[in-house]
Amino acid sequence: MATAAATSAVGVGTGQALEQLEVNHDFARSLPKIELHAHLSGSISRKCLHEVWTMKKAEDPNLAVEDPLLAIPPDKVDYDLETFFPLFSSYIYKLCSDKPSIIHTTRSVLQDFQSDNVVYLELRTTPRAIPDQNISKKVYVEAILACLTEHNNLPTNTLSAKLILSVDRRNTLQQAEEVIDLALAYRDAGIVGVDLCGDPTKGPITTFTSAFARAKRAGLKITLHFAEAPTSASDEELWELLRWAPDRIGHVIHVNDEVKREIVRRGVGVELCLSCNVHARMITGGFGEHHFGWWWKGGSVGVALSTDDVGVFCSPLSNEYVLAATHFGLSRADVKELCLGAVEIIFGEEAEKERLREVYRSWAGW
Ligand code: IMP
Ligand code: ZN
Repeated sequence: MATAAATSAVGVGTGQALEQLEVNHDFARSLPKIELHAHLSGSISRKCLHEVWTMKKAEDPNLAVEDPLLAIPPDKVDYDLETFFPLFSSYIYKLCSDKPSIIHTTRSVLQDFQSDNVVYLELRTTPRAIPDQNISKKVYVEAILACLTEHNNLPTNTLSAKLILSVDRRNTLQQAEEVIDLALAYRDAGIVGVDLCGDPTKGPITTFTSAFARAKRAGLKITLHFAEAPTSASDEELWELLRWAPDRIGHVIHVNDEVKREIVRRGVGVELCLSCNVHARMITGGFGEHHFGWWWKGGSVGVALSTDDVGVFCSPLSNEYVLAATHFGLSRADVKELCLGAVEIIFGEEAEKERLREVYRSWAGW
C-alpha cells in the first residue's frame, strides 16, 4: 500500500505538492472516512450519557447511577482489561436500559460519526435483552436498525450506516446461535455480518465454532477480535479462528510471523485501533510502537483505521488518521490510499463499494 501511495504522489504540479502536505486535523476531518470497527455502547459520548442520566434523574430522583461526568471524568481515557469491560456491564448498560435511552444514544452515535465526516460506518452491537422493559434481543436489534434506517433515509446525511451483530465471548453456544439467527433474519434490513468480541480472558472460543460455521455457510460476513491480549493469542486459538474463514479481523496484536503470513496470504482485512490499544495498554509502548506501521508498510491487505470505543477513548476517527500519519510519516496521498484500501474490505455490497470509490475519485480536498 505504501508503495502504491508513494508512486501516485511522485511528480510535479500543485496538486501533487499538496498531496505531500502534513496530515493535520483540518485535513483529517474533511477527509471522507470509513469506520469498520466501532462498538455501539462504547461509542456513546460522555455528553450523551450525561443527557440520558439527566433525563432519568429527573424522572426518578432516587436513580442509583452516578453522573457520567463524575463516573467517567472527561479526561479519563486510560484503562486496562480489568477496568475496561466492567464499564459496560456495571455502568453504561444501567443508563442505556430502556427504549428511549437506546434510541437517543444510537442517534447520537450516528450523528457523531456523521459530524466527523465518516461516510460509511459498520457499527456493531451485542443483542441485549432487557426483560423488565419487555425488550427482547429481537426488539433491541429492531430498535437499533430503525435508527440506522432513519439516519440513512435522510437525504442530507452523507454517512451510510450498516450493522454487525456481536457474539460475546461469555455467551453460550445457544446465545451465539440466537445472534446468528437475528443477523440472518435482518440481513435485508441493514445487517452485514457478525463479530466475536468481549473480554479476551473469557473462552474457550471453540464453543462458537459451529455457530460461525453456520453464519459463513449462510453467506454472512465475519469479523473477529483477534489476538487482542496474550491470553487470547495462543497458536491454538488463532489457527482455530482462521479456520472460521473470517473476512476481517480486529486488533491483530499478538501475532507471530507465521500467522501474519497466513493473514496476508488470504488477504484478510485488518481493523486497527491505535488509541484503544495504547490507552487500554494492549500494546507495549506508545503510538510509534503500534503494529499499524507493519500492516501499512508490509501487510498488503486492506487496513481500516478504526475507533473501537470512541466514547471511552475520546479519539474520533479523524484523530486516529492524524495519529497514524504523525507517528508513521504518512502524507495526505498515503492517507487517501489507505482509505481506498478500506473500501475493498467493507461488508457492504459492490454498489456501496463503487459509491465509496467514486467519493475518493472525485475528492480533491487536499
Ligand atoms: P455493545 O455490544 O454495543 O453493547 O458494546 C459494548 C460491548 O462491546 C462490550 O460489552 C464488549 O463486549 C464489546 N467491546 C467493546 N470494546 C471491546 C474491545 O476492545 N474488545 C473486545 N470487545 C469489546
Ligand atoms: Zn472491538
